[in-house]
Amino acid sequence: MKGFTLLSVVLCLSTCHLVFAFRDGLLDNGNFEQAPNASDLNGTIVLKPNAIPKWRVSGFVEYIKAGQKQGDMLLVVPEGYAAVRLGNEASIKQSLNVSKGMYYSLTFSAARTCAQEERLNVSVAPDFGVLPVQTLYSSNGWDSYAWAFQADYSVAEILIHNPGVEEDPACGPLIDSIAIRALYPPKATRDNLLKNGDFEEGPYVFPNTRWGVLIPPNIEDDHSPLPAWIVESLKAVKYIDAAHFSVPHGQRAIELVGGKESAIAQVARTIIGKTYALTFAVGDASNSCEGSMIVEAFAGRDTVKVPYESKGKGGYKRAVLRFTATAARTRIMFLSTYYHMRSDDFASLCGPVVDDVKLLSVRKPRRMA
Ligand SMILES: *[C@@H]1O[C@H](CO)[C@@H](O)[C@H](O)[C@H]1NC(C)=O
Ligand SMILES: *[C@@H]1O[C@H](CO)[C@@H](O)[C@H](O)[C@H]1NC(C)=O
Ligand SMILES: *[C@@H]1O[C@H](CO)[C@@H](O)[C@H](O)[C@H]1NC(C)=O
Ligand SMILES: *[C@@H]1O[C@H](CO)[C@@H](O)[C@H](O)[C@H]1NC(C)=O
Repeated sequence: MKGFTLLSVVLCLSTCHLVFAFRDGLLDNGNFEQAPNASDLNGTIVLKPNAIPKWRVSGFVEYIKAGQKQGDMLLVVPEGYAAVRLGNEASIKQSLNVSKGMYYSLTFSAARTCAQEERLNVSVAPDFGVLPVQTLYSSNGWDSYAWAFQADYSVAEILIHNPGVEEDPACGPLIDSIAIRALYPPKATRDNLLKNGDFEEGPYVFPNTRWGVLIPPNIEDDHSPLPAWIVESLKAVKYIDAAHFSVPHGQRAIELVGGKESAIAQVARTIIGKTYALTFAVGDASNSCEGSMIVEAFAGRDTVKVPYESKGKGGYKRAVLRFTATAARTRIMFLSTYYHMRSDDFASLCGPVVDDVKLLSVRKPRRMA
């Protein structure tokens, strides 16, 4: 039965891809470089629902060009020269053919403007997530965010909505570069009881942004943009890539940017009484995040604190937590003891990097009678 299901999934994956020719990357006009006709704009205000090619907008939406000013603030745009701003109750949407049942992750860049508590409701019905954009993680105001969904239908209507109600309707977040990536849920292997322990499977990372991707907390692990992992507690973790950061192993890793308020966790199957070794790398992302760092690793009730002296220039060390399982399921978790700020930019949160996490059972030397 299991073999049969697996086979049909494999068949579907290949055929569905042939049918839909699904491609990871920017949505159609996902960076808003195709501009509306001048007659469909009043200043920056978009006048018609279909004025921006490939998108449908509703409410107070502005089409913003790089270099435009708002008060004293110069608006910068991460990709190309245009972005949109979602005012009160404004939204943008686009439909996309997807494979029913598959998991997808959306990545988009957003910047807070003047409102204190900006949030965005990202949805593909019936799933939605309300992502806070008020906390600044990077100095130019832009951050990239990931959000994942499972396709319930073969057409996904991607909707980004600003639920805010500000006095000034022009005080809404800027949005740019909306991309999608199909996620392939990884499996545990003989070499690792944890899935996706190297964090290689995860959200789309823009090749031209240098601030990583924030993965917001999510209580449902099967909808995580970081397959198999749960981002626990209040704050996001950052997904970083080897092209822009120092990464201990492979192409991707996790930077714990929220102190004790952000943690990643995964539940592993264990056998009561067996001894296990949890091995992992702790380092820094080479992003001027300096100082004495501590990563706390947990395996059920066992824990280890791993100190790491960061010069902010990259590097890592390996650590191990040995424990004897006391349950059939053991929660593995990592967090950073402290908050850190970049030494070159005191507005940006940063932290230690965790990578290459492996869980293996170790044989205790048996005593001969
Ligand atoms: C354009 O905006 C101005 C100021 O907000 C308004 O007075 C004018 O009526 C608008 N024009 C159109 C065509 O909507
Ligand atoms: C812009 O104007 C041209 C010519 O009138 C028209 O063909 C095109 O559909 C318009 N584009 C949009 C996005 O409305
Ligand atoms: C989506 O699928 C429908 C029906 O299978 C097809 O007509 C349409 O062209 C597809 N759209 C895209 C953008 O591939
Ligand atoms: C978010 O948007 C979805 C889809 O429009 C909606 O069903 C949901 O109620 C919204 N959630 C919040 C908290 O605004």
